[in-house]
Amino acid sequence: MPLPDAGTRVLVTGAGGPAAIAVMRSLSADPAVCLLAADMDSWAAGLYLVPAAERTLIPAGAASGFADTVLARCRQLAVDVVIPTVDAELRPLAAARTAFAAAGLKLMLAPDQALHVILDKLALARHCQDVVRVPRTEPLDDALDPAGWTYPVVVKPRAGSGSRDIRILRSAAELAAAERSGGLLVQEYLPGDEYSIDVFASQPGHVIASVPRLRAKVDSGISVAGRTVRDRGLEQFGAAVAEATGVQFMANVQAKRDASGRPSLLEVNPRAPGSLALTIASGVDMPRLAMAVLFGRPVPDHADFREIAMVRFLDERVVELAEIRRGAA
Ligand SMILES: Nc1ncnc2c1ncn2[C@@H]1O[C@H](COP(=O)(O)OP(=O)(O)O)[C@@H](O)[C@H]1O
Ligand SMILES: [Mg+2]
Repeated sequence: MPLPDAGTRVLVTGAGGPAAIAVMRSLSADPAVCLLAADMDSWAAGLYLVPAAERTLIPAGAASGFADTVLARCRQLAVDVVIPTVDAELRPLAAARTAFAAAGLKLMLAPDQALHVILDKLALARHCQDVVRVPRTEPLDDALDPAGWTYPVVVKPRAGSGSRDIRILRSAAELAAAERSGGLLVQEYLPGDEYSIDVFASQPGHVIASVPRLRAKVDSGISVAGRTVRDRGLEQFGAAVAEATGVQFMANVQAKRDASGRPSLLEVNPRAPGSLALTIASGVDMPRLAMAVLFGRPVPDHADFREIAMVRFLDERVVELAEIRRGAA
């Protein structure tokens, strides 16, 4: 089986985000890995964790030609592995999977079938309804009857991220007044504690680690304090969803308790999660495991974690102005 040669060049996207920074910190401990950082914004902090020659600015995931540009940049920079950490990049990269493989590049990305289900929260709810407790979820289309719901309800985009455009509606009148759009869904409101369960699958749907954490404090959609939780029910919940959706590598299953305390599915993020640093500290170094899988090295059949807590603070890098202006090669 191929081993990563010394100098395996790994490009991590979304370098401004905590997921990318946790991935980079994990892999920087591997002497075989040479890290490269990419972001659309030259102010992204993670760019400045690598030498200037290993930084690159890339377009937004939604921009036309995104995957072609990333592929061309990877060729210029002799990249071997791409680790996307930005939701908007996942679909376009998946669509270009064959071109990346033909160029000898490894993409750390869940299979198409998994992405197809996961990236549409309505499809995900339907897919998992016999697997775990799923809140009632329906499209906000002309057929929706506001009288048939218990309030409050949540209205959110089927393909949203970063908590954008999420609304809580408190009455049938409010829901009746909401603009109907096939891109939105209505969901039963879940009032209880919220968990993120980081899962690692060594093969599609083959889960070897499931690490629940309580989102103790959230600011703008990002956990700023949290703790891992040993709870068989939550661990099995995360593993069951990951198995049913067929994710591979790192993924993050989000759940919230309903009024009776039962964990219920919110969504799955098929990429490195923002609080990956906590999961790594708890004992499961998911980026290292993912690299092992990509390069055909053996991985354990089960990876265990312990209960541990994380608080966060802002940190800084001071760089010359010219570096920010240049941003990247
Ligand atoms: N059905 C729901 N009940 C209660 N809160 C919800 C519900 N759906 C979403 N939320 C809240 O909104 C946040 C973002 O929703 P989520 O489905 O995870 O979408 P995103 O992809 O934007 O992260 C969740 O972390 C949760 O706090
Ligand atoms: Mg979410």
